[in-house]
Amino acid sequence: MDLFRKCFQWKDWKKAQQFGYYPYFTPIESEAGPVVEIGGERKIMLGSNNYLGLTSHPEVKQAAAAAVLRYGSGCTGSRFLNGTLNIHVELEEALADWLGKEAALVFSTGFFVNQGVISALVSSEDVIISDKFNHASIVEGSRLAAGETIRYRHNDMEDLERVLKKAPAGAGRLIVTDGVFSGEGTVANIPRIVALASEYNARVMVDEAHSVGVFGSEGRGIADEQGVLDGVDLYMATFSKSFGGVGGFVAGPYEVIMWIRHKARPMIFSASLPPASVAGVRRALDIIRAGDDLRARLLANADRMRAGLRSLGFETGATTSQIIPMQIGKDLKCVKYWKALFEAGVFTNAFIHPATPPNRALIRTSYMPTHTDEMLDEALDVIERIGRKQKVI
Ligand SMILES: Cc1ncc(COP(=O)(O)O)c(C=O)c1O
Repeated sequence: MDLFRKCFQWKDWKKAQQFGYYPYFTPIESEAGPVVEIGGERKIMLGSNNYLGLTSHPEVKQAAAAAVLRYGSGCTGSRFLNGTLNIHVELEEALADWLGKEAALVFSTGFFVNQGVISALVSSEDVIISDKFNHASIVEGSRLAAGETIRYRHNDMEDLERVLKKAPAGAGRLIVTDGVFSGEGTVANIPRIVALASEYNARVMVDEAHSVGVFGSEGRGIADEQGVLDGVDLYMATFSKSFGGVGGFVAGPYEVIMWIRHKARPMIFSASLPPASVAGVRRALDIIRAGDDLRARLLANADRMRAGLRSLGFETGATTSQIIPMQIGKDLKCVKYWKALFEAGVFTNAFIHPATPPNRALIRTSYMPTHTDEMLDEALDVIERIGRKQKVI
């Protein structure tokens, strides 16, 4: 049997393209701002993770450009060998200092952090205890780990306790959760998780990808917002959202970071974060720390849209963050709605099965401080007009 047969026979994407409902890999011709240009047309961007708008910040751009001029375009090697620059080390020190953790370690992507950290730490006698809605990179790290993964119901602390009770005695335990969940915009109950971890002798890892920069004092994230940053053993976040760049990091106890440094395969066997990204992120960190006005504006925009979408009758779930889903139901209904919104000038993200449970397709929207009230009102008008026409509301 030809290995490629399944590829030649797989028609889903072809059909979607043929009917014009293919929502992915759309080339954008401008910066990742609140309004983008696609096919020469203006679209209001409600599908970006540029939560503080820093991709376009002049000082971030300037820092990245200066680093290219000084260090060149890449490091051509892994952190382990020739790929560590002084600016990687300086960034790690600044991150650890900001979070009050003993050490931090920068990877080339946030995906690599979850993949590398979980698989490096969890050996065959250990268990991973994971929220059912955790990000794919956590799932990936868990699959690669030698130990078993036990999942608990999304944000259900009673179920987490049930799982902890029945986890094998003597096993090392890692509870891992997203801080803010990427599709639903829901927020984890980190204080309860930290308390349960202490009761049942587990370690806690929180993925702050969607909360870093947005919540907490100086943007330290959701564990900080909830007053339990110290109780988080391993803090991870990505640079690909609020930091406006690419890359990721983990912060925690010094010896644990040293272990990860020497054992995480994406750290050892993949080239390091390039100079422009390191320098851009380093500048972004200072802007994030001083960014209370950006956070306030972002969350005010999200509140405005949450209220607007709910008053139109959309089911937006339990979100309390800058990520607001609109539950649509069937996949086809969802991509049709996505397409009509897109054509009317509003860019959103369609999440369909298997990214969601069957018949739970949703349109994910997210916001930036740089969206003006006029842009948001215009987007709401389009969402309402087309939603009524397509009987989505
Ligand atoms: C919750 C979460 N964790 C990790 C990642 C991976 O981050 P990166 O884009 O840096 O690979 C993402 C990105 O989509 C995410 O949403």
